[in-house]
Amino acid sequence: MDNWRGELLQELSRLGAAGLLRRLRPLSPSGRWVHDRERALINLASNDYLALANHPKVTSAAIEAIRAYGFGAGASRLLAGNTPIHAELEARFARFKHAEAAILLPTGYVANLAVLGALAQPGDLICLDKLDHASLIDAAHLSGARVRVYPHLRIDKLARLLREHFEATRPSSAGRAARRFIVTDSVFSMDGDVADLPALCDLADRYDAILVVDEAHGTGVLGPTGAGLSELQGVETRVDIAVSTASKALGGLGGIVTSCTEVIQTLVNRARPLIYTTAAPPAQAAAIAAALDVIHDEPWRRERLSRLVATLRNELRHTGLFEVDPSSIAVPPTPIVPIVVGETQAALDLSEHLRREGLFAPAIRPPTVPRGKARVRVSLRADLQDNDLEQLLHALRSWRRPAHSPVCPSPITTD
Ligand SMILES: Cc1ncc(COP(=O)(O)O)c(C=O)c1O
Repeated sequence: MDNWRGELLQELSRLGAAGLLRRLRPLSPSGRWVHDRERALINLASNDYLALANHPKVTSAAIEAIRAYGFGAGASRLLAGNTPIHAELEARFARFKHAEAAILLPTGYVANLAVLGALAQPGDLICLDKLDHASLIDAAHLSGARVRVYPHLRIDKLARLLREHFEATRPSSAGRAARRFIVTDSVFSMDGDVADLPALCDLADRYDAILVVDEAHGTGVLGPTGAGLSELQGVETRVDIAVSTASKALGGLGGIVTSCTEVIQTLVNRARPLIYTTAAPPAQAAAIAAALDVIHDEPWRRERLSRLVATLRNELRHTGLFEVDPSSIAVPPTPIVPIVVGETQAALDLSEHLRREGLFAPAIRPPTVPRGKARVRVSLRADLQDNDLEQLLHALRSWRRPAHSPVCPSPITTD
């Protein structure tokens, strides 16, 4: 065997020995169930929070668009891939987010690359929360700007980074002024806690920074109309740039950037992930627009989800089996409920135990989460039944932590 293949094999074996090897397993998700071969398990691992992926209005919209336009867009947005469906969705999404304009990219990951790649450059500063999503981290590094990471939610540390850069780069009359970016998830994807957006807006004002908020897990779920955490916290028009993903609560796929027209026009002209890739299929845009209709017409989905989250968090607290970070009580009802057990083996064991009990909730291990913070990440969906939660709680109560697996100091945490 070639040397490099042998090296890869060794590396994979090392991952396996540490319990960190990942495998793709074919599963058939269908509403609140996921089918693993012949076995139906309750799906606690989906980001389809409002159960829209199978909603008849959403699937019909996609099918009709395929009939009208075919499956693939056939070209980049700037060539022949831009259909009226794309334009209608973008106008619609801008209204939904109370923004001047919007642009659709094939995925949320790509949308984050597009934003920071088009707007930041060497000499600029990008400040990332320590728990920001990997797509924001990758986007920040690829942009060539200076990247600094502040401890999770520590506004004081962020303020220092911004102040230092602000003072070192006083605006000059010549050339483009150095830019500062505050880049944060709205709802943090592995912990389910949230950013303090009003405080970040204040900092952005004070230090002339651009605030970029990734609303992947907030859009559709939070706020009176489901427009996200920025709506819930009353700062929709103060956030400079928001990135929503249709891959979570909207039940589809796609990254949608909302902002002022100058930003959107700059993306159209400068964002390589928009210019040099094929447009999202028209059916994708049509399905997202239909999902927005359902979000508007069926607020009960958001309300049901919120009740389920409150019940689960509350019950977990009362089991006494897992410690609960007191700050999680103040967190709005985000559908992500982490059960942090510490060591990788314990997380794998808990996940396997849940599977035996008929529930699907995979272990989340390093490097996705820090070492010692392995967890089972439960994500809830609006179509879960009350007795699904009962089944989960019963299974958690009957779990016995494997020997030699130290207890994490704060097994359920939102830090
Ligand atoms: C916070 C956050 N941002 C961006 C993404 C990427 O979104 P998408 O799946 O649409 O590429 C994800 C999803 O995994 C996410 O959790």
